[in-house]
Amino acid sequence: WILILDFGSQYTQLIARRIRELNVYCEIHPFNTPPEQFSDHPPNGIILSGGPKSVYDKEAPVLNLDYFNFDKPVLGVCYGLQSLAHTLVPGSVEKAEKREFGRAKLIVDDDSGLLKNVQNGSVVWMSHGDHIHDLPEQYKVIAHTSNAPVAAVRHREKHIYGVQFHPEVVHTEKGKEILHNFVINISNCEGDWTASSFIETEIQSIREQVGDRKVLCGLSGGVDSTVVATLIHKAIGDQLLCIFVDNGLLRKNEFNEVLDTYKEHLHLPVKGVDASGKFLNNLEGISDPEEKRVIIGNTFIEVFDEAIAEENDFKYLAQGTLYPDVIESVSFKGPSATIKSHHNVGGLPEKMNLDLIEPVRELFKDEVRGVGRELGIPESFIGRHPFPGPGLGIRVLGELSKEKLDLLREADSIFIQGLREYGLYDNVWQALAVLLPVQSVGVMGDERTYEYTVALRAVTSVDGMTADWARLPYEFLSEVSNRIINEVRGVNRVVYDVSSKPPATIEWE
Ligand code: XMP
Repeated sequence: WILILDFGSQYTQLIARRIRELNVYCEIHPFNTPPEQFSDHPPNGIILSGGPKSVYDKEAPVLNLDYFNFDKPVLGVCYGLQSLAHTLVPGSVEKAEKREFGRAKLIVDDDSGLLKNVQNGSVVWMSHGDHIHDLPEQYKVIAHTSNAPVAAVRHREKHIYGVQFHPEVVHTEKGKEILHNFVINISNCEGDWTASSFIETEIQSIREQVGDRKVLCGLSGGVDSTVVATLIHKAIGDQLLCIFVDNGLLRKNEFNEVLDTYKEHLHLPVKGVDASGKFLNNLEGISDPEEKRVIIGNTFIEVFDEAIAEENDFKYLAQGTLYPDVIESVSFKGPSATIKSHHNVGGLPEKMNLDLIEPVRELFKDEVRGVGRELGIPESFIGRHPFPGPGLGIRVLGELSKEKLDLLREADSIFIQGLREYGLYDNVWQALAVLLPVQSVGVMGDERTYEYTVALRAVTSVDGMTADWARLPYEFLSEVSNRIINEVRGVNRVVYDVSSKPPATIEWE
């Protein structure tokens, strides 16, 4: 496996993704993690990520040289290389007068080892201020560019390498080859970490962890919890009990359709609980989005508690936590502010005295999808757009009512069905309809109307952190708008949201 030491680069997760694509397991840890933590199971190779600092900054992160005691191959990327050089030979990094961003052409001086199969002139992506000018004696240059005399280096005897550019970004043409050379050829990783090998290992470890005890799992209808439940079910059969709650905030027909898939296709032991009345009751009179989220979260806990009241012998709670939620990120910008409190069944484990079991906590979203496919979960399920825990509760803006939710369900269904019919569903990352709390004037037949507005939102994104509005065809928008206004009573106006995130968010609340 490969250890990635994070020096704070925005690209660190990308390095991990690229290595996983080579079917090699890797983990990201902060640069200041004590090496002893890995003594029992040392990595085959270590990558030092880039970072936003200069080695001359007061709080510059410093490489712990004890990592070299593992005597394993090391690759420094950008700041990782500078930190390496600066630690070995103080002064070898030159403060840049001119920063270098963007494309550069690599001139390869030694095309063996790290740069095998990397042609002269291939494009690399630079993004740095400082650069190395005085190479420590034991090192030699293996590539340069017209701008940077040192673009890639290696130790003359040991397997220590560095690149000034970013092999992990797609703009570096031969980035994949370079990482392949380091991970497979130089670090001798096998490249046998696949969805099916993950499933095999994970089933084994779930069995060992759980023994003959019982596991509880909350299903949301989303990919992550479904994969988790299916995996655990494969491991321990009916020692698992799943709960799927109708909170009254789901989409049209969603509760029954999803419950059906769980039972008929996936054969999961699942208890469906209709708690829509309770949720709506608790939400009555509430219009503040954060208050709604808290109430929805607490009501989930109540409903869970009641659903298993007669069976109190659960030891574990299964959750679909993903790797990006787990990575302890190195940030030099200070803690990022909570913009929205995203709900999960948080609080439940403490209250019910349950231990957590999180089988996909080492995976990225697309890897969870891969595991889901391997487990035989239908493609229609795997490719579903994300859907927030509080559901339509945060898409009826302001105060909720059953009538408003039903109205939104109809509009949403026309929009989503339309996307599927036009073959557009998979082109957008997430699509949704929002019911605005304003009424406006319209005319239908000869009558003046005074009714609600529905806003449609569709975005493209990679991870939901940033997003752009999807350029849906006008004919499509026109048809959906017509259908909503004609078929959904109470709506006389449809608008399309053309804001990006940031500064807007994907949801409206
Ligand atoms: P925003 O609106 O913050 O949404 O741009 C980013 C992604 O997160 C989802 N989202 C939530 N998911 N609980 C969830 O489980 C929430 O409270 C919540 N709020 C937003 C949103 O649907 C989008 O995919």
